[in-house]
Amino acid sequence: MSEPSRHPFLHGLSKHRGAPPTVVVIFGASGDLTARKLIPAVYNLGHDNLLPADFYLVGFGRKAIPDEEFRTLAVQAIKEFSRRELSEAMWSRVAAHTTYVAGGYDELPAFERLAAHIAGIERQLGRAVQRLFYISTPPSVFAPIIRNLGASGLASSHLGTPLHAKVIIEKPFGKDLTSARELNATIRGVFEEHQVYRIDHYLGKETVQDLLVQRFANAIFEPLWNRNFIDSVQITVAEEVGVGSRGGYYEQSGCLRDMIQNHTMQLLALTAMEPPGSLAPEAIRDEKVKVLNAIQPLTIGPAGDVARAQYAAGMIGGKPVPGYLEEEGIEPDSGTETYAAMRLSINNWRWQGVPFYLRSGKCMARRASEIAINFRRPPGTLFAGETARFDLAANTLSFQIQPDEGLSLILNTKVPGLETRTQPVKMSFRYATTFGSNTAEAYERLVLDAMIGDGTLFIRGDEAEASWKLCTPVLDFWRSVGRAGMDSYPAGSWGPPSSDALLAKQSHVWRQP
Ligand code: NDP
Ligand code: BG6
Repeated sequence: MSEPSRHPFLHGLSKHRGAPPTVVVIFGASGDLTARKLIPAVYNLGHDNLLPADFYLVGFGRKAIPDEEFRTLAVQAIKEFSRRELSEAMWSRVAAHTTYVAGGYDELPAFERLAAHIAGIERQLGRAVQRLFYISTPPSVFAPIIRNLGASGLASSHLGTPLHAKVIIEKPFGKDLTSARELNATIRGVFEEHQVYRIDHYLGKETVQDLLVQRFANAIFEPLWNRNFIDSVQITVAEEVGVGSRGGYYEQSGCLRDMIQNHTMQLLALTAMEPPGSLAPEAIRDEKVKVLNAIQPLTIGPAGDVARAQYAAGMIGGKPVPGYLEEEGIEPDSGTETYAAMRLSINNWRWQGVPFYLRSGKCMARRASEIAINFRRPPGTLFAGETARFDLAANTLSFQIQPDEGLSLILNTKVPGLETRTQPVKMSFRYATTFGSNTAEAYERLVLDAMIGDGTLFIRGDEAEASWKLCTPVLDFWRSVGRAGMDSYPAGSWGPPSSDALLAKQSHVWRQP
């Protein structure tokens, strides 16, 4: 039986989600993200029969690319980056509806040509289509694109009907609080908030979505999910890769802007928010904003709540890696951090007194993203005194976001034998073992959700601002002091001493994921 009143979130990747006829327009279609993520996402949605029957793909960019060449680029992208092999038969149906429009992002006539191009598609099809605009350009042209979508009438097409236009905006959403507010103001001058989908691709990851399910679909966690039982929370997003060829971008960004302000803060919001009243997008986003706004302002400066560092030369996977300052496109005296860590306090009834530790870095020992919930130790009355016999750890529940996605719980257990000895053991669940490993990529879920109009896994404007409000004073301080206080860590390690010191104040240590 169909369940029309059920919220789309509950349907997951079911084939019954039914996106309306849609034209997806990618701005920046000749770029890296389009090739590595967006085209493969469209391909895999098609493969899973999740694209609408009337689906059109339009690339847009400054370079004049003939339709046929764009189709060839798309095929190359699928061959190189898709999680599935190319099926020519399946893709040929999308390719027949794939075209390219060339023009400048700040040129209104180019957007008028785009509007005419889409109107031509509708005429040929004999019915109206939803327009989904994906802005996948460098952030310097986000605002001109949005303004031209407004001026050309594309933003308001079919407004007031289920086929109203939508816009997906890539990260970074601003570079500080002021610029994020300006970008929000530009967007609000053109789009209504329900038309806007600000991307944080971490929200599209399976394990991140599972966090909500684990927290609210299991009765055992919620009674413990508070200051009475939880000692501290650690959120780690560690990357093994360095800046690679993205040095130019990274120099303008750094770890706090690139990873902490968005990805790790979103993980924190989902971990710490109150149970939403329903699974409606606004109910979830309201709770995320509330908890982000309850984070206390950070103490900045020596012995404060924040640490930053750059990687020095080291070894990763048995290979030598140069230090950040030796990388291509990096200033020899660069003040850009490749690692950042924070100690946060949430000033509400649930979390008062529980430190939340966040860290992220490039060129770390290995790729590992996790959320670790460290519970309080049991009262040391029974299995106490003889540490050699009673090896006891605090219970830790950890969500492995990637790689090797899963969930584990550290429990203290009796070692088999005639003598009573204890030892911590790990109870684990692995997605790959239970469900198989070829799961949908984040961008598949996010493009599909935007097509069907589900904003749950996207960031609302006030969420972005709440997160920037916390991070901007840190960035301002770092800018004012230059390289002073910049720590370093060898590539291939777990981070700098100043980050350990953030935890040592409360006798905590970083877990090794
Ligand atoms: P690219 O640098 O590859 O740029 C995308 C396209 O935008 C280019 O092909 C080019 O197309 C156009 N472009 C490039 N530079 C400029 C410029 N200075 N002014 C105007 N147009 C320009 O970007 P990515 O594809 O790597 O990233 C796109 C967006 O996605 C960015 O906002 C990025 O932050 C975000 N992102 C990217 C990730 C990645 O791994 N690449 C990961 C997460 C987010 P043309 O010349 O044809 O106009
Ligand atoms: C992006 C950052 O948002 O996330 C990159 O700009 C980073 O610097 C990437 O490498 C990490 O994403 P993932 O999905 O590989 O963990």
